[in-house]
Amino acid sequence: MNRAKVRDKASLTQLLRRILKQTDHVRRFPRYESFAHASASTKGYEDQDITQMVSRKAVQLRQALAKGGLEKSVSGRQTIQNMFVLRHVFQGEPLSVIDVGGACGANFFILGHVLPGLIGKWNVVETAGMAMEGRRRFQSGPLHFFEDLAKALGPTADQRPNLVLASGVLQYLPNGAQALQSWTDTRADWIYLTRTVLGANCAKPVFTAQTTRISDHGPGPLESAEHSGVACQPMVVNPLGAVRQILSRSYCCEYLFEEERDETTRIGPCLVRTITAGFLYKRT
Ligand SMILES: C[S@@+](CC[C@H](N)C(=O)[O-])C[C@H]1O[C@@H](n2cnc3c(N)ncnc32)[C@H](O)[C@@H]1O
Repeated sequence: MNRAKVRDKASLTQLLRRILKQTDHVRRFPRYESFAHASASTKGYEDQDITQMVSRKAVQLRQALAKGGLEKSVSGRQTIQNMFVLRHVFQGEPLSVIDVGGACGANFFILGHVLPGLIGKWNVVETAGMAMEGRRRFQSGPLHFFEDLAKALGPTADQRPNLVLASGVLQYLPNGAQALQSWTDTRADWIYLTRTVLGANCAKPVFTAQTTRISDHGPGPLESAEHSGVACQPMVVNPLGAVRQILSRSYCCEYLFEEERDETTRIGPCLVRTITAGFLYKRT
């Protein structure tokens, strides 16, 4: 091999090393054709272990909140952001809220505690298993659990909710566009999406699945240091542009919350630029 060739090979190796180093931090996920394909081999959010973990943590959270006196302890940017939103949409009358994917009601417990008197009705829409657990252990006063939106809305059109809240849920629904449309169809005064993972550089939904520790589900840390297994949930990166387009048909965005740093994620062969954001939309 002559010297020039050796030099070329060395610089090529160096270049390759540099590229690999640059993409070292890129998280890798599998890619599926559809939500059904991603669900096929996982229990998803219907996993009983997740439901039980979330339920135990919600009990823990409720007990911890009950211990506090008049002084309210507020921790974390997410709670402060949620408090801001609730205060912003409050017009003097107790709010009627639909909380899609609201698990066992953690956001109701926290916000009801730090902002007493603002909530009139809090209807959680959840998977069948989580809704059943919610009804069994947590349903009381303004807090109710349903497994579909129509039931949560009630029988008459004049019971329009003030707010539809979807926190960390859009990316777990089989059809994000359909879900968004159903939320705008409620004609709620406000729609608040938060902890929402969206694709900034994709035109169509990208289907994947995430593996999580069961102990990471539910509000806050687990009191005991026990270890638990892992679970897997189908996940969809919905295109940012399409989401905003659907909402903008009958709502306008008042606040955009930049919640986490943008990331590049490798899903199958594609590099997807994901953002985790929040949006507060007002009905026009
Ligand atoms: C990441 S957790 C977010 C929980 C809570 N909203 C929060 O912000 O902490 C996602 C939630 O979405 C719920 N979920 C998943 N699929 C759903 C579906 N098809 N309909 C309603 N909720 C669903 C899960 O059961 C889970 O409670």
